[in-house]
Amino acid sequence: MRTLTTIEQLSTDDILFLVKRARQLKAGSPSQVPPGLVAANLFFEPSTRTKMSFEMAERKVGLTVLPFEAQFSSATKGESLYDTVKTLEAIGVDVLVIRHTDNAYYEPLIGKVKPVIINGGDGTGNHPTQSLLDLMTIMEEFEELEGRTITIVGDLAHSRVARSNVHVLSRLGANLQFVSPPEWQAEFETQASLDDAIEKSDVIMLLRVQHERHQPGQSFTREQYHSQYGLTVERMHAMKDDAIILHPAPFNRGVEIADEVVEGSKSRIFEQMKNGVFMRMAILEYLLKEEA
Ligand code: CP
Repeated sequence: MRTLTTIEQLSTDDILFLVKRARQLKAGSPSQVPPGLVAANLFFEPSTRTKMSFEMAERKVGLTVLPFEAQFSSATKGESLYDTVKTLEAIGVDVLVIRHTDNAYYEPLIGKVKPVIINGGDGTGNHPTQSLLDLMTIMEEFEELEGRTITIVGDLAHSRVARSNVHVLSRLGANLQFVSPPEWQAEFETQASLDDAIEKSDVIMLLRVQHERHQPGQSFTREQYHSQYGLTVERMHAMKDDAIILHPAPFNRGVEIADEVVEGSKSRIFEQMKNGVFMRMAILEYLLKEEA
């Protein structure tokens, strides 16, 4: 396999292998990537976590990382993504992590370019590496997903994280619940009451309110959203004793999550970020093991 573009392309065995390997790497196992390979991270949408944790992972597994700044690249002169990728292939890049505003931007590249392509997020489509690090974080807590209830709350319509997570979590046997304002529920069947959903949940997975993807007038005030759909301190106290909170971040403090909850005892948000480095190391190892 030379790409990771969607979570659907991975078998359940692949997924469980990646979680196990990421946990081994986190515990100090040495990485096993062939030497002499070169990576570049092409981010045409803003990112802090995905871009920086991929760069950290690339350096930890021994890749040389070439810097690429989309706003100073020839993409600003109209060069296509395909021609950008062919250029990087020609100069010797072996692996490309790409984030792009277009859904399925990777389709014209697959089978036509030599570098390994890893999807760092495509529009409102997929974010497979986020799903895998989320799964790792949940499995560190509960080991098995069978019979666990996971509630995904927020802007479902615009969330590539929700789409990738629904696929992997349901495949592994989790019971999924959704809570969202009606205008952002998209194809998901939502519960009316966040409070009822919270009481039954082992994991509350919050989604960012994506102001940049909303039309004017489509958003709530911060206070309205927080009161109806936010994880307030009171709602955190209503959670099961061993239940945990995830958020892919960046988070809007005081909107989808109360300031005090972000770093509270139930939050695993910063552990997700830490796990992102190890999961991305495992993914690089997995995709590059036959390169040399
Ligand atoms: N979770 C996530 O994708 O964060 P960034 O947008 O900062 O990469």
